[in-house]
Amino acid sequence: MKFSEEIKRRRTFGIISHPDAGKTTLTEKLLLFGGAIQEAGAVKSNKVKKGATSDFMEIERQRGISVATSVLAFEYKNIKINILDTPGHKDFAEDTFRTLTAVDSVIVVIDVAKGVEEQTEKLVEVCRMRNIPMIVFINKLDREGKDAFELLDEIEQKLKLTVTPLSFPIGMGYDFKGIYNIWEQNVNLFTGDPRRDIEETVEISDLSSKELDNLIGEKAAGTLREELELAHGVYPEFNKQDYLDGNLQPVFFGSALNNFGVRELLDCFINIAPTPRPKDSDTRKVLPDEKDFTGFVFKIHANMDPKHRDRLAFIKVVSGKFERNKPYLHVRHGKNLKFSSPNAFFAEKKEIVEVSYPGDIVGLHDTGNFKIGDTLTEGEQLMYKGIPSFSPEHFRYINNADPMKSKQLEKGIDQLMDEGVAQLFTLEMNGRKVIGTVGALQFEVIQYRLEHEYGAKCTYENLNVHKACWIEPENPKGEEFADFKRVKSKYLAKDKRGQLVFLADSAFSLQMAQQKYPSIKFHYTSEF
Ligand code: G4P
Repeated sequence: MKFSEEIKRRRTFGIISHPDAGKTTLTEKLLLFGGAIQEAGAVKSNKVKKGATSDFMEIERQRGISVATSVLAFEYKNIKINILDTPGHKDFAEDTFRTLTAVDSVIVVIDVAKGVEEQTEKLVEVCRMRNIPMIVFINKLDREGKDAFELLDEIEQKLKLTVTPLSFPIGMGYDFKGIYNIWEQNVNLFTGDPRRDIEETVEISDLSSKELDNLIGEKAAGTLREELELAHGVYPEFNKQDYLDGNLQPVFFGSALNNFGVRELLDCFINIAPTPRPKDSDTRKVLPDEKDFTGFVFKIHANMDPKHRDRLAFIKVVSGKFERNKPYLHVRHGKNLKFSSPNAFFAEKKEIVEVSYPGDIVGLHDTGNFKIGDTLTEGEQLMYKGIPSFSPEHFRYINNADPMKSKQLEKGIDQLMDEGVAQLFTLEMNGRKVIGTVGALQFEVIQYRLEHEYGAKCTYENLNVHKACWIEPENPKGEEFADFKRVKSKYLAKDKRGQLVFLADSAFSLQMAQQKYPSIKFHYTSEF
């Protein structure tokens, strides 16, 4: 197949949702359609089960699963689909943000009864800021839930999206009869039998036809006609370009558990979802069909086997072909690296692969060369942008609890930070190390992994920090900046890249500092 055709047949996307909305179930049904798995229950949830905070086996179990489900690839109607896994748990939100830099589109899953939930809001906001095309799937229609219009309203309000339904439910919960597929103009009847894999659909291109009444009953048909008319009047006509630009979000209804409405979603998805998109670098925009390979690391996974300390770095191919055993430039290190066993991912396994194309994810064995955001090229000096660090929510001093193992501790902290588990800040005043995390769970993960993977022991000490702000002085040599550094010396630290960070102890002191030093910019992310 020609290079350009390989690019055209790729769709790389992520499924985002609040935990329990049905992401795992939907993923599994998509894989079933692709014939990538044979039975339901094969895809393990990457959820951290309730009460897992103190259960380290649970953390390891979760980590194991998230290695296995990091990338799930399958083929459907000659389209190569790559699903990138995104943890729903809020403590791992940064992982998800980073993964979103590697997707070309997303599917947002919403629970029909719960509507828009907290995590959905946060994740959709990130996608909206990046103009990532989104399709919404409203799930669990077999249960009682909110009215379709009410939900569409809520999505528009809370997620600040412009929606248009491409399917519409006929009844709900106990009365759920099926779905009218606006996109394909047919009715799909719900039998409640998840085992059937060929759906019974009836073409109804003319909504006024008597056939609709015969199919779902006069009353339901009447209601459906009214609702569709209303929807037609209220919501914009679907337009593929608007969707691709991130300005319009089509909505589907269904029940993932019952495998209902999923095929419709998938068929529309392969039709409209973007092929690998161009990506901005620090020097220029890179197009997928360029001849030379470029790619970037968006995720690093430590090996689960403590005897093999190597890691797996996940690279998204942005342009050109990635080939096995060919030397590529590691731009940050300025050195060439060759990879003899790059992995490609399939439903639940990985295999050594000779060639990968734009949109694909390649797993590279890494002995400590990579960190998140690193770029590989065929020699060009460019770095991909768009993997900022956000201010952590929780901060603690990390102390060495075993003086004999300080080297191990240092190495462990270093590598865990490269993986993006947490952020490290070193106080300017005394060199003490502060760990910042998104969730409290990470502190235990770090302590556990330092001990089990690096043989080092640590303890934590509380530290009162409200927010970390990256500092950018207008005039680095000026009087104002010198005064700021003197007065705030206790609160200044360097991040891992050596950038200056202000660890404000309260919202008030941050506000005061902003007022007192107007020529200094306080950034909430590391990229500005
Ligand atoms: P997540 O990955 O988004 O966290 O959600 P997941 O797919 O694990 O689904 C969460 C729960 O919702 C599961 O039930 C799942 O069976 C159920 N579910 C998913 N889709 C549907 C649907 O269309 N209809 C109904 N009624 N339920 C659905 P659970 O009891 O928490 O887990 P399990 O023990 O069944 O696996």
